[in-house]
Amino acid sequence: MAEARKPIIAGNWKMNHTHLDAIQVVQKLDYQLRPEDYRAVEVVVCPAFTALRSIQTLIDGDKLEVGLGAQNLWYEDQGAFTGEISGPMLAKLNVDYVIVGHSERRQIFGETDEVVNKKVKAVYRNGMKPILCVGETLEERDAGETEAKVRSQVKEALKGVGQDQAEALVVAYEPIWAIGTGRNATPEDADETTGQIRDELRTKYGDLADSIRIQYGGSVKPGNIADLMAKPNIDGALVGGASLDPDEFARVIRYRI
Ligand code: 13P
Repeated sequence: MAEARKPIIAGNWKMNHTHLDAIQVVQKLDYQLRPEDYRAVEVVVCPAFTALRSIQTLIDGDKLEVGLGAQNLWYEDQGAFTGEISGPMLAKLNVDYVIVGHSERRQIFGETDEVVNKKVKAVYRNGMKPILCVGETLEERDAGETEAKVRSQVKEALKGVGQDQAEALVVAYEPIWAIGTGRNATPEDADETTGQIRDELRTKYGDLADSIRIQYGGSVKPGNIADLMAKPNIDGALVGGASLDPDEFARVIRYRI
């Protein structure tokens, strides 16, 4: 990856870990990481909503350098939306990042590009940073539609997002067929598609595209992270399964060693 972009490795815990488990995982993770690890890589954990307050308290109390992310939000700031969580609620918990448009939200919960766009704007409006997820299905890949799909997802999600906001953006390229399957994209394929995403960002934001970080996600493990990170367009990882265990996640973060 380019020198100017600090790698960002985020753990997306999905619907795993109670708040009690989450505290232990973050404590064990931090115990294994050295100051030089935090200098080299921005480390973020994205627990379930029910664990955010506990992890915020742990991070603040022990002055940990771990960043806090949420996995979702609703795009209105308040109101009659039973069961939803708003941007202001997350911002008050010192949440830094919010994952938006994860393929599980799109596929299981029917989130459209339009909803994703509203959520991205809600994240910015509340002073946080989006981790915008894009990626193709296996059918789309086999039909040669990967580039068109990710370009259109990026374009639609960022409608109305200005240059001044784009700097804080993180994009996660997650081929859907590689999520939780043990089947990861080859570093070459992942680099090609992240390059196309950067090119799409360039058409909208010009040279600012060179400072926007693009992660790869999909069966990232200690054994494949180094080869992915060696690629010029890959600036980090969004890690599911391998982030649940602190030892394994620490080995992903310390990929340089
Ligand atoms: P896995 O690392 O478990 O494949 O999950 C990837 C993912 O969806 C992260 O958001």
